[in-house]
Amino acid sequence: MIAVMGASGNTGRRISERLLGGGEPVRVLGRSAERLEGLVQKGAEAAVGEATDRDYLSHAFEGADAAYLLIPQELRSPDYGAFQDRVGGALTEAIRQRGVGRVVLLSSIGADQPSGTGPIAGLHRQEERLRGLEGADVLALRPGFFFENYLDSLALIKHQGINGGAMAPDMPMGMIATRDIAAAAADALLERDFSGFEIRELLGPRDLTLTEATRIIGEAVGRPELPYVQLSYDEFRAALVQIGMSASVAETMTEMAQGFNEGRVRSLEGRTAANTTPTTLESFAAAVLAPAYETI
Ligand SMILES: NC(=O)c1ccc[n+]([C@@H]2O[C@H](COP(=O)([O-])OP(=O)(O)OC[C@H]3O[C@@H](n4cnc5c(N)ncnc54)[C@H](OP(=O)(O)O)[C@@H]3O)[C@@H](O)[C@H]2O)c1
Repeated sequence: MIAVMGASGNTGRRISERLLGGGEPVRVLGRSAERLEGLVQKGAEAAVGEATDRDYLSHAFEGADAAYLLIPQELRSPDYGAFQDRVGGALTEAIRQRGVGRVVLLSSIGADQPSGTGPIAGLHRQEERLRGLEGADVLALRPGFFFENYLDSLALIKHQGINGGAMAPDMPMGMIATRDIAAAAADALLERDFSGFEIRELLGPRDLTLTEATRIIGEAVGRPELPYVQLSYDEFRAALVQIGMSASVAETMTEMAQGFNEGRVRSLEGRTAANTTPTTLESFAAAVLAPAYETI
């Protein structure tokens, strides 16, 4: 049986569907039975609970021979790093206790760095915890920037006519659809093609700058002149607090932007056939961003 965390989310839902389609017994994890119901209808067993709860996780991983793990976001957390450590520690303990032998972790580019990368430093610490597990094969997937992040930019695009953030406009980087991360994770879980502690980057179809990405998104939503505007770190931090993030989360997200701009968050592998994934931003923008833009 394979236990899948975050099964109502971007990667977990698609991983669960792919595993169920391959005939695997799957246990789906999340905080809401209702949001997991679609997967239960397709044959999954649900385990509902909070990822900081050690007893819940111990139950959720009982009988699992493999697991997909992520550290969810908690945008109102008063201390985001501490939240990540509580989840990461509880997950690692449950994996150890239940003897889960194969683990795929959703990590990130930049997770090689212990600090100066915002929330990615929490993923670095989780990689280190899992690296120390005896008797488990662990694959850390390190994707680039998710296309889905642009869903959060649509209100700004619609109401203010700009795409903006604190990251530099002209910095080429890997950007990826979460469906391609899910495919890589599910394939690894099914093929069992990793051993010891392995890292694989996932970089999307080609590197893009934020200026290029903004042009692609602008064309898809009918604003071909859409500009990307780089905010100062202070402006960015204040904007994040204004849309409801805690001061801690706003600070850590700002540090991540700085980590990108200063080269701490970057691909170590460089682009290869293995880390290049198929879904283009053009197709994602047409299929996902443009319809979502219409509903705002
Ligand atoms: N955004 C990026 O560019 C980027 C890049 C690299 C890595 N990442 C990593 O990707 C992660 C997000 O992955 P994703 O997009 O697949 O997930 P997602 O769509 O954000 O969904 C999060 C999932 O976790 C569950 N969840 C949230 N809080 C929880 C909690 N406290 N306890 C138990 N379950 C909880 C949610 O389910 P319920 O709400 O139903 O409980 C949902 O299924 C980030 O947290 C980060 O670590 C992100």
